[in-house]
Amino acid sequence: MNQVLRYIDNQLHMESVALDVVAEQVGTPFYCYSKADIQQRVSACKAAFKVLDATIHYAVKANCNLSILRLMAAAGLGADVVSDGELERALVAGIPAEKIIFSGVGKRKDEMLAALNAGIAQFNLESIPELEALIALCESRNKTAGVSLRINPDVDGATHRHITTGVKGSKFGIPMEQLHHALRRIGESEYLQLRGLAVHIGSQIVTAEPYRRVCERLCGWVTDLRAAGHVIEHLDLGGGFGIDYGDGDYLDFESVAQVMQEALQGMDNLHIAIEPGRSLVGNAGVLVSEVIYRKEADPLPFLILDAGMNDLMRPALYQASHPIQPLLASEKGQEQVNVVGPICESTDFFHKAITLPEIAQGERVAMLQAGAYGAVMASSYNSRAIIPEVMIDEERFEMIRRRITNKNLLEFELVM
Ligand SMILES: Cc1ncc(COP(=O)(O)O)c(C=O)c1O
Repeated sequence: MNQVLRYIDNQLHMESVALDVVAEQVGTPFYCYSKADIQQRVSACKAAFKVLDATIHYAVKANCNLSILRLMAAAGLGADVVSDGELERALVAGIPAEKIIFSGVGKRKDEMLAALNAGIAQFNLESIPELEALIALCESRNKTAGVSLRINPDVDGATHRHITTGVKGSKFGIPMEQLHHALRRIGESEYLQLRGLAVHIGSQIVTAEPYRRVCERLCGWVTDLRAAGHVIEHLDLGGGFGIDYGDGDYLDFESVAQVMQEALQGMDNLHIAIEPGRSLVGNAGVLVSEVIYRKEADPLPFLILDAGMNDLMRPALYQASHPIQPLLASEKGQEQVNVVGPICESTDFFHKAITLPEIAQGERVAMLQAGAYGAVMASSYNSRAIIPEVMIDEERFEMIRRRITNKNLLEFELVM
C-alpha cells in the first residue's frame, strides 16, 4: 500500500484523514489526493536528477488540477503542456512562461499563437507541416520562438502498446529521415531558434534500459549534427517513469537518472530536461467509490460500484489495474469477485476474478494509484456528473474541484 494510506482503528486513512469522513461530506465517487505524497515525489525527483542538473517540466496531462499545478509551481518545476487549455492552467497556477514547453502532435495555429504571446520557453515540434505553420505564424507576428525537434528514436519502451510512443510507425515525433529537412528549414528562418532534440518513448516504463538505449542513440545523433554545424544545446528526454500499480514493478528516479547520466557521459554543453507526469502524482491519488449492489452470479459475484469507466478510464482503455482496498478493514474472509462500474458497456470492468476481503453492498472502497490519468480523462458518458476532487493536507481536507453536476451539463445545451 501507498505510504500515506494506512488503517487506523480499522478505517482507511489518507495522511490523518479517514476517507469515510470525506465520503460522508463529499459523497461518492470522488478523487482524493495526498499533498504530502506529491511533495515527497517531487522532492525525490529533484534530488535524483541533480546528477544531470536537469530541468523538470511536469507533464500537465497527468493531472491538471490547479491545486496540484500550484504545488508544482511552488516546488520550482516547469510544465510540459499539450494544449492551450493546459497552457492557461499552468500560467494561472503560477508556472512562469519561460519554464513551459509546448509538446503535442497536432498544435493548432491559435494554440501556438497563445503560446508565442505568453512567451513560452520552447515548442517541441513533431512534424514538418507543424514547423512550417510555426514559421508562418512567427513571420506574420514578427515573433521569435525557441524550438526543439521531437524525433522518433525507434526505441521500444516495453510498455502497453497503447502507451508506446517512440517506435517506428507511431504517430509521434519527426521520422529520422526527415530530420535534416527540418533542421534546414529552421536554419533558413530568422524567427526560429534551434534548441535541440526531444524524445518521449512511452509511459509506465518500468526498466531503465530503454532510457539507456535512447540516450546512446541521442549521443550519436547529437555528435553527428554538431559535426555538421548545427548547434544542439538542449536534450528533452520526456517522461514515462512507471509507478507500482500493485505488481511491484516501477522505475525509481535514481535508477533512471543514473542510467541517463552514464549514457550521456562525455557530452558537453548539453542541457537536460525531463517531463515526468505519472511518477509525480499517480501514487498520491485514490478513487473512492461505494458498492451500490452486490450481485450474486455464476461463476463469480459482481461488486457494482458507483464509479464507472467514465470516472476512471484506464482499465477500459488499456487494461490497467488499480488495487482496491475497503475503507473499513474487514475481519471477514477473502473471496473472488468481479468489480465493475454501472456504465452500459461491457468494458466497464475494473477487475475480473480478483481476490478481495469480503465487501458488502453499501460499503466503500478506494481504488489506489489513481492520481494520474484519472480525473483528467473523466467524461460525462451516460450523462453522469463529473466527480469532485479533494486534497488532503495532514488532518485537513478540501474540495479542489466541485462536482460538475447534471444541471451544470444541461446548462450548455441549446434546444432547437
Ligand atoms: C511528450 C510527453 N511528455 C511527457 C509525458 C508524461 O508521461 P508520464 O506521465 O508517463 O511521465 C507524456 C505522456 O504521454 C508525453 O506525451
